[in-house]
Amino acid sequence: ATAGLGNEIVSVVNKLQDVFTAVGSSAAQIDLPQICVVGSQSSGKSSVLENIVGRDFLPRGSGIVTRRPLVLQLINRKAGSPQTNGAIDKSGDAHANADEWGEFLHLPGEKFYDFNKIRAEIVRDTEAKTGRNAGISPQPINLRIYSPNVLTLTLVDLPGLTKVPVGDQPKDIEKQIKDMVLKYISKPACIILAVTAANQDLANSDGLKLAREVDPEGQRTIGVLTKVDLMDQGTDVVDILAGRIIPLRLGYVPVVNRGQRDIDSNKPISAALEYERDFFENHPSYKGKAQYCGTPFLARKLNVILMAHIRSTLPDIKARIQQQLQKYNTELASLGGPMGDSNSANIVLSVITEFCSEFRTTIDGSTNDLSLNE
Ligand code: GDP
Ligand code: NA
Ligand code: MG
Repeated sequence: ATAGLGNEIVSVVNKLQDVFTAVGSSAAQIDLPQICVVGSQSSGKSSVLENIVGRDFLPRGSGIVTRRPLVLQLINRKAGSPQTNGAIDKSGDAHANADEWGEFLHLPGEKFYDFNKIRAEIVRDTEAKTGRNAGISPQPINLRIYSPNVLTLTLVDLPGLTKVPVGDQPKDIEKQIKDMVLKYISKPACIILAVTAANQDLANSDGLKLAREVDPEGQRTIGVLTKVDLMDQGTDVVDILAGRIIPLRLGYVPVVNRGQRDIDSNKPISAALEYERDFFENHPSYKGKAQYCGTPFLARKLNVILMAHIRSTLPDIKARIQQQLQKYNTELASLGGPMGDSNSANIVLSVITEFCSEFRTTIDGSTNDLSLNE
């Protein structure tokens, strides 16, 4: 039941993430483990995320499409198991798969079974907070996807690194995006997924360059090489995978996503994943190590890394939660007791209590004592 254990751990961290987002300011100080996706515009970040989820649901197009961070919590859920809360489907889509749905933190109780409507809501809420023009905002969109076909994981999609302002974008757009991305990836609890197109020079990768600014030893950066299918004949990424170009402790994973033509012709992701598997299994450079290539391997690797990372950061998270709690209680006491904001204080307390008891029962060894009152 190793997978189940991992699911529990990640899902409790997901709850904490929601609560800290909902109560606002504390979110900045409690640094929860998550995987952040960085790379230049059009390097294939959205395509990688959609392939991991196995569904089309992200806004696409030229220009900067991702203009706010998207905190994407994937939750593995057995097909046909009872639904976890009283949310109602308002999508009205009779053809939707009842086992897979999305929920936005800003629309509590509403289930989206139609993934096209998830995309529409991301676009709508992005425009609501940033305007229609290409402005950006650091305010995240929190989306959960429940599905029997995903591994439990938290991924953050960040705006793509860009050089040239388009339309009426501010002149300093490059710096604005860079600062926002750095804010996320400089946190030590962040695993950086640096996406680079394989048909470009690795040394010029914007994602890797930025990752190295905050993780110079490459201790918490995973390289993803997209567009391996577009490389010139006779060239391959074998030297990169072997760590001979820019070594990363967590390594690189090569993938093949849908090309623009596949997207325009509505090629299903399932067909794209099959194509990807065939590509690596039959390519002379990769067939000997095809099990270490492609999206399914990437998803498993991320799940294992995130779990290990959460475990190793638990003692630190506990200490910070205790500090916050103490500060909060002192503030409440100085205001003459728990009035005003006591509701959000109670929510935080109850989630933390649950967090601690879950960890006490699911993790053995010396890191399991997360009791708050010692
Ligand atoms: P993002 O801007 O980083 O989110 O990049 P997208 O995922 O939107 O991809 C940009 C373009 O590159 C789209 O036209 C994709 O179809 C194409 N693309 C992404 N990955 C691959 C790949 O592995 N192979 C091919 N042939 N095209 C890809
Ligand atoms: Na794009
Ligand atoms: Mg994108």
